[in-house]
Amino acid sequence: MIGSATSNGHVSITGIGSKAPERVLTNDEIAQMVDTSDEWIMERTGIRERRVAAPEEALSDLALPSALDALEQAGVQPSAVDLIVVATVTPDMMFPSTGAILADKLGAKDAAAYDLSAGCTGFVYAIAQAHAMVATGLAEHALVVGGDVLSKVVDWEDRSTCVLFGDGAGAVVLQKVSEGGFLGFELGADGAGGPELYMPAGGSRAPASAETVAGRQHYAKMNGREVFKFATRILVDSAERVLHECEVQVDDVDVYVPHQANVRIIDYARKKLGIPEEKTVLNVDRYGNTSSGSIPLALVDANEDGRLAPGEMVLMTGMGAGLTWGSALIEWTANGKGGQS
Ligand code: ACO
Repeated sequence: MIGSATSNGHVSITGIGSKAPERVLTNDEIAQMVDTSDEWIMERTGIRERRVAAPEEALSDLALPSALDALEQAGVQPSAVDLIVVATVTPDMMFPSTGAILADKLGAKDAAAYDLSAGCTGFVYAIAQAHAMVATGLAEHALVVGGDVLSKVVDWEDRSTCVLFGDGAGAVVLQKVSEGGFLGFELGADGAGGPELYMPAGGSRAPASAETVAGRQHYAKMNGREVFKFATRILVDSAERVLHECEVQVDDVDVYVPHQANVRIIDYARKKLGIPEEKTVLNVDRYGNTSSGSIPLALVDANEDGRLAPGEMVLMTGMGAGLTWGSALIEWTANGKGGQS
């Protein structure tokens, strides 16, 4: 799916927030759990440390502070939110949705609320969907959360996956604005690649049972080399497609926010695209791969560094389980400037 985002007026991000768990887990600590080393992890992934949730901490506990910060920045009362989309593969529970749980915690009584599952691309899918609802007037104040607590589904005995992931969430508010905002989206999925990155049990195919638990089927499984090849190819292809659709040159991109999976993947993609290092947001070294939380966490970092000034052209691309991918191009607007349609 590809298209321009401006045919129904301008919609933008008017507030952002994020939250990662307090607990920092270093590479050296992981090296005490499995046969690995800080040196190997740094060299192959660029990850130095990640955050991990406490045993009692679930996604909605990270989503709530992220959402409150984003709403405050946007100047929107929680009760005025009329759409909540939570992109995640690690909801609090199978049902009810974390979106509905979050709506209750926020007191957003008039909001439609649900979860969206598109792996690490979830956040980009969710903003495209919320954008459409705001652009057409179905929603006025949309809240999109991207977040995952992958530490709960990672196999801490599998060194090829447990070193990669971390926990975190971010939220954005979408509203109509008078100019700027989202220019276009490109989204896709290739279900044939599903077995490269998946969690076999816990759904209707292999419901939770003593056997699935004993077989460690409730943990994420990944074919790292295949995912690496897919990720490097799709980060470039998807970005080029959305730029072409929006008639924007790569040199005009001011801030590049790729999914934070691995420094090697990001470096490959930005070099191939021709985007300099200083325009690329990188925080995978501190958070690891937080799946749906990765892009909004990076947006918050970029904002705090003063890199998201109004008028800046921001390119985001995510990719992940599905296999899925998605790019969004946005001309950044001032925080808290919604409602000027
Ligand atoms: N520590 C030490 N050695 C390890 C570790 C580890 N943590 N993990 C694997 N190895 C070993 C392997 O067993 C292998 O040993 P062998 O040669 O004796 O068999 C060796 O290291 C090399 O393994 P490779 O898989 O070839 O290593 P590679 O350089 O490809 O790096 C990695 C592995 C980091 C997983 C890489 O493939 C990768 O980054 N893939 C993409 C993963 C990813 O980002 N997934 C998520 C993206 S999508 C999403 O976000 C959901």
